[in-house]
Amino acid sequence: MWVIERNLYDQNENDVYETLFTLANGYVSFRGVEEFSNRKIPGTYLAGVFDKSEAQVTELVNLPDPLGIRIYVDNEPLLLELSELLYYDRKLNMKSGVLESTYIFETSSGKKIDISSKRFVSRKNRNRFAIKYTIKPLNFSGSILIENYIDNRTYNGMLDPTNKIQHYQVLTSGEEMPGILSLVRTFDRGHVIAFRTALKGMNEDGENILKLRKFRMIGQNPCELFMIFVDESREYTLEKFGTVYSSRESCDPLKEASLELARFYVEGLESELNKHTEIMNEFWNRSDIQIKDDETAQKGIRFNIFHLYQCVDDDPTVSIGARGLHGEGYKGHVFWDTEIFMFPFFLHTLPEYAKNLLLYRYNTLKGARKNAELNGYEGAQYPWESADDGLEVTPKWGQDYLGNPVRIWTGDEEFHINSDIAVALIHYFMVTGDEQFMKDYGVEILLETGRFWASRVEYNEKFDRYEINRVIGPDEFHEHVNNNVYTNYLAKWNLTKAREFYYWLEEKDAAKFEILKSQFGFTKREVENWQMIAEKIYIPRNDSEKLIEQFEGYFNLKEYEITEWDENGLPKWPKGLDLTKLGETKLIKQPDVVMLMLVLPEDFSQEEMRINYKYYEKRTMHKSSLSPSMYSIMGLKVGDTHNAYKYFMKTLLVDLEDNQGNTNNGFHAASAGGAWQCVVNGFGGMTLESDGILSFSPWLPKNWEALSFNLSYKGSMINVRITKEDITFATDISIKIRVRDKVIEIPPGRTTIGLSS
Ligand code: BGC
Repeated sequence: MWVIERNLYDQNENDVYETLFTLANGYVSFRGVEEFSNRKIPGTYLAGVFDKSEAQVTELVNLPDPLGIRIYVDNEPLLLELSELLYYDRKLNMKSGVLESTYIFETSSGKKIDISSKRFVSRKNRNRFAIKYTIKPLNFSGSILIENYIDNRTYNGMLDPTNKIQHYQVLTSGEEMPGILSLVRTFDRGHVIAFRTALKGMNEDGENILKLRKFRMIGQNPCELFMIFVDESREYTLEKFGTVYSSRESCDPLKEASLELARFYVEGLESELNKHTEIMNEFWNRSDIQIKDDETAQKGIRFNIFHLYQCVDDDPTVSIGARGLHGEGYKGHVFWDTEIFMFPFFLHTLPEYAKNLLLYRYNTLKGARKNAELNGYEGAQYPWESADDGLEVTPKWGQDYLGNPVRIWTGDEEFHINSDIAVALIHYFMVTGDEQFMKDYGVEILLETGRFWASRVEYNEKFDRYEINRVIGPDEFHEHVNNNVYTNYLAKWNLTKAREFYYWLEEKDAAKFEILKSQFGFTKREVENWQMIAEKIYIPRNDSEKLIEQFEGYFNLKEYEITEWDENGLPKWPKGLDLTKLGETKLIKQPDVVMLMLVLPEDFSQEEMRINYKYYEKRTMHKSSLSPSMYSIMGLKVGDTHNAYKYFMKTLLVDLEDNQGNTNNGFHAASAGGAWQCVVNGFGGMTLESDGILSFSPWLPKNWEALSFNLSYKGSMINVRITKEDITFATDISIKIRVRDKVIEIPPGRTTIGLSS
């Protein structure tokens, strides 16, 4: 249950598998391209390497592809589409983080050759990657030509040719002992990136087999060619070593890449692979989820967790794009997806990465302040879509569901991102107790977002209240709406927290407090004014009515009933609906009111949750992969267990079954985070209560015998194992926990609590 396998080759599926088989270490990423196919969308991305140049907006750059390898038998290249394919099998081994492939090719002259490979991107040394090939001629002896090359013709927009663009120019490409090199510079930001690759070849006795080396430039692509002489049924090993460095971390990337390659070449591929595997094991020890007796769920959750881990590195200047580092969907941009959907997984299992994700927001505060200034607001306005500097990079134009050009308003109106970041920050503090982080970075973000909201609200004299008009809430079908409940509620919460932490800092660190005040001009008067605003922010919620109106006027919109579902079980557009006028209907793209109830669960009663879930679920089109997981969790909270499992499976398999139809463009990272939340917060019933206590109210599907996962809490790890009868905590600290509303003091060691109520 650690392996994702592809054993039937259909070239039309290559682009989806490239995403599924992407290997990355949070620093560099390679789409899982078939090296023996011409039908591919190569993707090499370095976290943080963005560029604008002639593109519509700043985007993650598709860099040269250094994985190039060709094998020729009788001058015929081995190609999946050209050769007879006698055997094909490709496996992503998630346990070890290795992509393993096996092929048996038969050439046009009937020569059969068995090739297997192992590809990995090192978790030990982030600048290293490698592929090991084992070659066995099955029915011939003779010569084979091997070509190692770097492809400098890659570009962004393979799936979106109208926006095709090459973001880099080649500064140098050529040879250097051992191997070949490519040095490129992005046009606009001027990032310089160096790639180095080299081959080793050995027979079964460990003797070199690479002969008659030739070096050639084919256009701008450096290639080195070797002849190897083989005997029938003997095994030969080819090792491809690769390194990459960029000017983001080095002032001489080429020199660093070469030195790194030299070291790697000497230390050997196997030794690196062993260290990489060790780190992968450590990762799984901390983050694995075990689901007993549901193979699809078990494999699916590991797939999601594995790819989330592939997106993070120890770098506080980058975050995770909506499509991970796995493709060009959403241009590598960072959304609320990170803080609200992916963040909990990192926070509760790998908090050091959660901290980095928040530091990215701290490091882009300058851009966020600039956004506020450009829009006539105060404080910091985080961009709806963020790249490298915190400036707003949401494209202004896109396409509607019919393919017509349409103005995109999210960058102008989807303000809730500011409070979403504040929510993640407060959760981080509650779970880790990291006061230093709050003093150094957290409070500043809270104050600046608080200040932003205070300048964004509009006072309505008639009702003596503050309103937030012309916004987009999480449901993006409705633009320019007034008083979206999600936005208003969280703005209020954000202002209150900002005030609270102003005084917290004053008490905890007088020096830091003085610096913040004098640097940014905060005063007691200002924060007290925030409190006054917070109290008067209009929340369109009537105590006597449990059903909450998503925004002012929503209840008067046109009703359409969803009556048909597609082959993936997702709603089809109701008949007669004008897709250019979705905003006039009650249909929603994804949860909005329900989303709020999940972000601030303690503010809503069980009954309110049930009523709102029932009402809005029926009207949700799930046109975002962020949607099903949230309905799954809420479904579990309100007892709709049947739908909860269904929505969980949709979430879990979004990429494995490509149920949104766009996995070719990258991995659905928010959905992956949502899948983790479904298991832990949904089935595990875990809630982080505002008093900082972890509370559990589990429910397991019929076919799950047991569920177990780890939670990092205040520097310790708690293992939680749930069966239908009981819940067991294994911890080395004593900790207060709530199980089905009863607070229990858990001593160090293993404690089992019965669940029968
Ligand atoms: C969703 C947003 C999401 C974005 C990136 C959109 O389709 O509506 O909520 O942030 O995709 O995943």
